[in-house]
Amino acid sequence: MKALLLLCSCLWAPLVVGKPDNDTVPTPYRLQTALLDTTWTNDFGIKPWPQHPRPLLRRESWKSLNGIWTYQPASGGDDLIDPPSTPLNQEVVIPSCIESALSGIMASNVTHMWFATSFTVPYDWAQNERVTLHFEAVDYEAVVLLNGVQVGFNRGGYFRFSIDVTEHLNADGSNDLLVFVFDPTDDPSHHIPLGKQTNDPSHIFYTPCSGIWQTVWLESAPATHITNMDIAAGMDGTVTGNIQSSVGSHYPVNFSILDESGTPLATYSALSDQPFKFTVPSPRLWSPDSPSLYDISVSMGPDTVTSYTGFRTISSEKVKGVQRPLLNGKFVFQFGTLDQGFWPDGIHLPPSLEAMTFDIKLLKSLGMNMMRKHIKIEPDLFYQACDQLGLMIIQDMPSMPANSLPDPASQTEFERQLELMINEHKSYPSIVTWVIYNEGWGQLTHPYHPEKHIAERIRKLDPTRLINAVTGWHDHGAGDFHDNHHYAEPQCGTPFYSLPGTPYDPDRIGFQGEFGGVGHVPELRNLWPVQEAMDTILQTYEINQDLSSYNYRSHQLLDHLREQVALFACSGAVWTQTTDVEGEVNGLVTYDRRVMRVNATQWKEDIQALYDAAEARN
Ligand SMILES: *[C@@H]1O[C@H](CO)[C@@H](O)[C@H](O)[C@H]1NC(C)=O
Ligand SMILES: *[C@@H]1O[C@H](CO)[C@@H](O)[C@H](O)[C@H]1NC(C)=O
Ligand SMILES: *[C@@H]1O[C@H](CO)[C@@H](O)[C@H](O)[C@H]1NC(C)=O
Ligand SMILES: *[C@@H]1O[C@H](CO)[C@@H](O)[C@H](O)[C@H]1NC(C)=O
Repeated sequence: MKALLLLCSCLWAPLVVGKPDNDTVPTPYRLQTALLDTTWTNDFGIKPWPQHPRPLLRRESWKSLNGIWTYQPASGGDDLIDPPSTPLNQEVVIPSCIESALSGIMASNVTHMWFATSFTVPYDWAQNERVTLHFEAVDYEAVVLLNGVQVGFNRGGYFRFSIDVTEHLNADGSNDLLVFVFDPTDDPSHHIPLGKQTNDPSHIFYTPCSGIWQTVWLESAPATHITNMDIAAGMDGTVTGNIQSSVGSHYPVNFSILDESGTPLATYSALSDQPFKFTVPSPRLWSPDSPSLYDISVSMGPDTVTSYTGFRTISSEKVKGVQRPLLNGKFVFQFGTLDQGFWPDGIHLPPSLEAMTFDIKLLKSLGMNMMRKHIKIEPDLFYQACDQLGLMIIQDMPSMPANSLPDPASQTEFERQLELMINEHKSYPSIVTWVIYNEGWGQLTHPYHPEKHIAERIRKLDPTRLINAVTGWHDHGAGDFHDNHHYAEPQCGTPFYSLPGTPYDPDRIGFQGEFGGVGHVPELRNLWPVQEAMDTILQTYEINQDLSSYNYRSHQLLDHLREQVALFACSGAVWTQTTDVEGEVNGLVTYDRRVMRVNATQWKEDIQALYDAAEARN
């Protein structure tokens, strides 16, 4: 591990390695038998996730590198000094978590590993253009070698990184890509943002994800091109933006909002790397009930890209004496689930876009308008689906390990990655709230409360959303919410509370960040069949022996929540949880998404009653 850090600090001194000379045939790819599969497992195939992976900045000239690569474990960081010959000894399908059945590997406890592929550059890409290699996410650290030269390094398991590889390409031949990955997961000598991943899964912590788990792709763009766009659009029609370019500031940019036929509704002449602002008269607003989006076209010299936005405003104000979250100027009660985004066949990556949107559509079908994306960050196509289908997202920062506290260097890295999360996702209209800490996990509380300065920093990076500084447990007054966790009964903005909660703070929004969690043991064929997981089932907050009891208890808890909305200062609540995950059996649906526990008729009525109670307080 030390050796990797050392090498990475001298990254830009190119490391040149010899041409591969080993023609060993790798073990062919075979989809492994998942411990529990889903109806989409076989859709994964050997060329998965063909969609353009970056919906907010699209160009025509791109090429996916997803498909069969080769893989082998490495013995440690020193392996980087003498990279192996390619192909490596086993085929793998990229993207995937190597622990998953989809990867074809199903590894456990591998911390250092190699991945390799080769590719050609499409012949019709213009000779004078720049070629960028994009990795949408590699968990946790990656060193990238192209044609034997080290061209990039990244740290952080949930984020995109991009490398201009133009100077290192064989434009008319084959290119060898070799990626070294290091992922300690929750090894006690590391404190990294990792959410629910652990090397030793049980109860509420799950199988980890390591490796190249999101799309890898190439893109061609003119030398003068747009590198990033921040766009926000408000209920008054104001569009604010900042278009970053490869050539720095003050390059002329044409920015157009398009109508449904693709005709510009409004065009603004901006300058690159300069914040701009203009107004579109009476746009249709975005809301969960009416998720209107507008396409965008942006030109800068020879470069043209497309994107989209939604016009909506999130704010916090007092309504009839109670601090409320507002959407487009109106108090909208937020109701949805705690959503882990784990899959029995793919761990962090569902087998297909259809599988991914199944969960979102399930919540929508019950009348939910929100999801708390729990200490995980999803591929961009997930946020696009929420924008399109109409679901407000409370986005958690992936936590550091729950049972220990970070040293100063780990804390600094956590805060750096939190800024990446915000900068990479702040143009998605569906995201309404950023969460810093969950239930004290990795949260320093002595000698200072880091959520205070982090909340101030987020406010500067993104003034268009609310901040939930701590969801559950150690609240010190930071952020826009006073968020209580309590099982199974809600205690949402109420004058009563249980420890380690704190008394409701009327200056902030009263919120129930978690409640419910009532369980039901499914049949073995719908259960994650791992003894350590099954041994912890009885740690579930409450077990119901059958589904009619599950729905009876759900109805009681939702009805108590409704009373709290009517009587107290409850502005939103998060039900635990969308699906079962490994040893947790408290989902609306089982882990394989095959058995629906909820009585949809009853849940729809109970959820509508929450909105009606909130509307009566407006
Ligand atoms: C090729 O790789 C295999 C498996 O990693 C190894 O056993 C063999 O010694 C290698 N051969 C050469 C010529 O490097
Ligand atoms: C992986 O490591 C964990 C933690 O060190 C250990 O408890 C577990 O048994 C290991 N699993 C395997 C399959 O080796
Ligand atoms: C912007 O649009 C105007 C009018 O169509 C055109 O003359 C100009 O060249 C465009 N500028 C850019 C940077 O595309
Ligand atoms: C589902 O809930 C509705 C409304 O409460 C009820 O009428 C119906 O009997 C329930 N269905 C089942 C299968 O229990």
